Amino acid sequence: MAAVFLEEEKIFKLDTRNTTYVIAVVDDEQFLGHVYYGKKLKEVHLDGLLRIHENPFVPSRNNRDRVSFLDSFPMEYPAHGLGDYRESCINIRTEKGNVGLALSYVSHKITEGKDGLEGLPASFGKAGECETLKILCEDKVTGLQVILQYGIFDEADVITRSVKVVNTGKEDLYLTKVYSACLDMDNKDFEAISLHGSWARERQIETVPVSHGKYSVESIRGESSHQDHPFLALKTKNADQENGEVYAMHFVYSGNFKAQVQSDQFDQVRMTMGIHPEDFTWKLKEGESFQAPETVLVYSAQGLGQMTRIFHDFYRNHLIRSKYKNQKRPILINNWEATYFDFDTDKLIAIAKQASALGIEMLVMDDGWFGNRCDDNRALGDWFVNEEKLKGGLKYLVDEVNKLGMKFGIWFEPEMISPDSDLYRAHPDYAIAIPGREPSLCRNQYVLDLTRKEVRDYAYECVAKILRSANIEYVKWDMNRQLSDIGSLELPADQMGELYHRYVLAVYEMQERMMTEFPHLLLENCSGGGARFDPGMLYYSPQIWCSDDTDAIERLKIQEGTALIYPLSTMGAHVSDCPNHTVGRVTPFETRGYVALAGTFGYELDVTKIPESDREQIPAQVAMYHKYNDLVREGDYYRIASYAENHYFDCYGVVSKDKKEALYTYVQVLNRPNYHSRRIYLKGLAAEKYYAIEGEEGTWSGEQLMNAGLLVQNPFGDFKGKLIHLTEV
Ligand code: DGJ
Repeated sequence: MAAVFLEEEKIFKLDTRNTTYVIAVVDDEQFLGHVYYGKKLKEVHLDGLLRIHENPFVPSRNNRDRVSFLDSFPMEYPAHGLGDYRESCINIRTEKGNVGLALSYVSHKITEGKDGLEGLPASFGKAGECETLKILCEDKVTGLQVILQYGIFDEADVITRSVKVVNTGKEDLYLTKVYSACLDMDNKDFEAISLHGSWARERQIETVPVSHGKYSVESIRGESSHQDHPFLALKTKNADQENGEVYAMHFVYSGNFKAQVQSDQFDQVRMTMGIHPEDFTWKLKEGESFQAPETVLVYSAQGLGQMTRIFHDFYRNHLIRSKYKNQKRPILINNWEATYFDFDTDKLIAIAKQASALGIEMLVMDDGWFGNRCDDNRALGDWFVNEEKLKGGLKYLVDEVNKLGMKFGIWFEPEMISPDSDLYRAHPDYAIAIPGREPSLCRNQYVLDLTRKEVRDYAYECVAKILRSANIEYVKWDMNRQLSDIGSLELPADQMGELYHRYVLAVYEMQERMMTEFPHLLLENCSGGGARFDPGMLYYSPQIWCSDDTDAIERLKIQEGTALIYPLSTMGAHVSDCPNHTVGRVTPFETRGYVALAGTFGYELDVTKIPESDREQIPAQVAMYHKYNDLVREGDYYRIASYAENHYFDCYGVVSKDKKEALYTYVQVLNRPNYHSRRIYLKGLAAEKYYAIEGEEGTWSGEQLMNAGLLVQNPFGDFKGKLIHLTEV
């Protein structure tokens, strides 16, 4: 059993392959205390673990200092208002305006396997892979029940947490805050790692010391965002890729979030994650419930590298559902950077002809094929084919592309509406707005109020009609602005705080519906690049566009941050033209190919116009993708050197699960004059195996390659890359 309740000590002990998580029921009032999360323990006894035999003691011994107890006890799920002044996880407001909750343990249930969460993305697993623990707690005064839900994934080494809240009282309650997970621990001199960014600079790794007070990463943009990422990890000081302890939380959600670490007066830390409480309330009438999204918890005693590999395997095996997750994806060519809005059937067919001759397998028609969409100022919402551009219609184009032996994919932005659109002229009320206020524009567009069924159905039908009309095998679902002006024509005043979350649920519902109606579709989510690259979206799509920045060098940093948690198979990455459209940098075509190889791999250029010397490299790049993609998609990822840290070069590798094959990518970003070769310490190999290096004479032991390293000759020039391919001999 991965989860047990030890009756005598009233302890829950949750075990995974390498970790143990312990919760205790404490004192007469049945407080739930967090006891331990860390390296696996065979046995655990409460004595000497919880500070309940020292001042301020538990309330049954010293109720005089109840507040001191509440404010220092490591709570499994802390509630607001009664004396715990640290960050709380849950709060309510009653009809009379009262706040505060006292949660006591009532009962629990342990079952085999793990189901999803209704209406929300969530991890899943069969009996034998995982168990589910549900702990029921209750606040006697209001009748609010809180069910703490745990998924214990043994082999995957992961614990998931979420929370369901039920109003069993007679009075309406307003949930004003509901986080999904909390970890109370003593501070082990932790540093916090987060992924910070902006448009074209997503998910850059940032490390800060944890000091007294609060450090949070958050989004109130209605999406997980370019700026912060719903991920937070605490690592012991100087922990690196192989060494040190790491506690990580990642939120399976695509909307507003708050991840925080707080260090208190006793040097205890409280790490929390959940829906951002700002502008959030949820009305619960008698008998109604609210399901909070899931958080994935990973503990690694072997540094960040191990954390990364746990996340990668977990998402590949227990979160992504698409049938494509274990398949080589078709190499696509997307016309966005090739043509922007300036294209027609002839241009697209010319690109497809040239591309198919070079071995590219799918044409993706990006923004600009519908309504009067001649630029990004208009027509979102008018999802009918612009037959002036697409002469002969969409089906004709798709059929012609299919005749070339290529698949066809299409771009949508179903969540948006342009003020200059037929849809807006007919239904200005479809846009999210605060009644009486002109909503703020962003990229000259508004957001559709998908929380309204009528609007959601309209938007869905627009997409579905197009998908039904031709042999479309891929959709890029884009979202190019954040939410603002949060107001609704439908929600009553006391439910206005539900809009943000209802919006996310609506997007999930639409994508679920689309994948149910079109189960063979390859879906790639996107949000102005990577603003909604999160585990929530991965539940619906096996890949997400990583960033609008396709420059190979910028991508090294973006992809390093993304790969810290996400499998390479999920990262949308393309070879684009130079000078790069975002940074103006010129990099060798070869290097662009190596960097895109660490993702889904595709092209984003006008293949009829690029220099002949670049074009003629495409067949070799296509062959490279076919040769290595199985390994890249399914192997274990190892970070060897980070250009973001050393400012000179980057190196990472992927090793097959059986350690018989490995591929390392080395990119020299800046050449150094008068410098010798670099010694690279390979990682992830089997010490006892012998390997051949493609293109080199001889064999090397894994032991030597990992401990003594391998000399990589300095290429002449900047931005030069190299692949090092090893196979067992
Ligand atoms: C943002 C995406 O990230 C781009 O790839 C492209 O699809 C544009 N939107 C189109 O408007």
